Amino acid sequence: MLLSILPTYLLALILTIRPQPSYSVPGLDIWNVPSSKIITPDWFARNPPSIQYRELEKRDGTNYNPDGTPFLWLPEDEYSGKNFFDDFDFFIWDDPTGGMVNYINRTTAFEKNLAYVTDDNKVVMRTDNTSTLERGQHRNSVRINTKKTYTTGLFILDLDKAPYGCAIWPAFWSTGFNWPAEGEIDILEGVHDNEHNQITWHTTQGCLYDENATFTGTIPEHNGVLSTDCWNQANQGTGCDVIEWSRASYGPFFEAQGGGVLAMKWDENDISVWSFFRAAIPKDITAGTPNPSEWGLPSARLMSTMCDIPKHFARHTVVFDITLCGAWAGASYATSGCPGTCDERLIHPENFETAIWHINSLKVYRKQLLSGNVTVAPGSSYGSMKAQTAIISLVIAVAVAIMISI
Ligand SMILES: *[C@@H]1O[C@H](CO)[C@@H](O)[C@H](O)[C@H]1NC(C)=O
Ligand SMILES: *[C@@H]1O[C@H](CO)[C@@H](O)[C@H](O)[C@H]1NC(C)=O
Ligand SMILES: *[C@@H]1O[C@H](CO)[C@@H](O)[C@H](O)[C@H]1NC(C)=O
Ligand SMILES: *[C@@H]1O[C@H](CO)[C@@H](O)[C@H](O)[C@H]1NC(C)=O
Repeated sequence: MLLSILPTYLLALILTIRPQPSYSVPGLDIWNVPSSKIITPDWFARNPPSIQYRELEKRDGTNYNPDGTPFLWLPEDEYSGKNFFDDFDFFIWDDPTGGMVNYINRTTAFEKNLAYVTDDNKVVMRTDNTSTLERGQHRNSVRINTKKTYTTGLFILDLDKAPYGCAIWPAFWSTGFNWPAEGEIDILEGVHDNEHNQITWHTTQGCLYDENATFTGTIPEHNGVLSTDCWNQANQGTGCDVIEWSRASYGPFFEAQGGGVLAMKWDENDISVWSFFRAAIPKDITAGTPNPSEWGLPSARLMSTMCDIPKHFARHTVVFDITLCGAWAGASYATSGCPGTCDERLIHPENFETAIWHINSLKVYRKQLLSGNVTVAPGSSYGSMKAQTAIISLVIAVAVAIMISI
């Protein structure tokens, strides 16, 4: 019996050996490996880096953790074009920030043209700019969040336009469902005709913004207190925030120069935000091989020195919204230089032509360590392949041996 299994086992093994996942051109393809395929050290051993790869590595740079371990940011998800809205849920409840908006569902948003994708693949979301309202009535608007959640990642938003204008309060942000225990990161946010983007973190107690981190923005004061405590109850719900230096980082000047790219890097070391004018988007971003270590100082950087990032931030969904008046835009309306009151502003549809997002893409990259022990992600076919092959061959061998012995 044993003797008859052995040769048939070997034959079956040969027949069932399946090709390894194809990483056809080492070097270039490493950037396009989907997240379900993990490059393992033994794959590297069998496919020594080609010359192109070494050049690519030198040009685009591997990133390094503070402890020296190298890593790459590899593509994980892309939200863009005709399928953009398939991967988002529409939020249809009352605005938790007290805004005077009526968040509508997917069907209504498409019917009323408040969410659509243009023929040239621009994703558009907007507030109703056709209805005249009664005083005090809420205006239709859109808030969406990714169905998928992320714990760490590099998020790169390319957009032509972000909403702005009197009474208008848009945000591009990420948040855990268990708020604020799982944290909130506001990447692009502002009100009225602001010209400087505000980047904000909201957490539970114990997370501080290290003012000695290196970044280009300015930490504002709220009620005479420097805004470095991210605890949401520390300073009337303002969190810890940083104002970008550029007056084209939000509002009319942002739109006038064709928008640009906002990048948020979140890992265990820090959470950093960069913004780039369209004319100054780093080439590695347009090439899809982002390398934050080459981008210079971020606008804002929450360091792990004074905030345990894995403890305070987890399972974030990525959100786009446009709200009106409410806790920020309403409360600040009187001092904003905008005419009349926020309620009055809401009545007339022509006030909301600039309440519009024009998005080219949102790309998410994940961190892949290049040395040390490589973890095989759930769903990865690679790790189980050898075991699977061996088991299938054994089953075939036993079956054949039984047939022979009968
Ligand atoms: C969407 O909202 C509209 C208006 O409130 C409602 O009539 C409709 O039933 C909703 N559709 C879904 C699929 O929930
Ligand atoms: C920042 O650095 C200054 C000067 O070294 C120091 O006095 C201050 O305590 C530091 N702040 C924090 C929050 O560590
Ligand atoms: C709504 O705003 C868009 C521009 O964002 C404009 O093209 C359109 O004409 C506006 N609609 C009305 C009724 O004003
Ligand atoms: C890698 O795995 C080996 C064996 O499982 C273990 O001894 C070692 O500590 C691991 N190294 C790291 C950096 O996790």
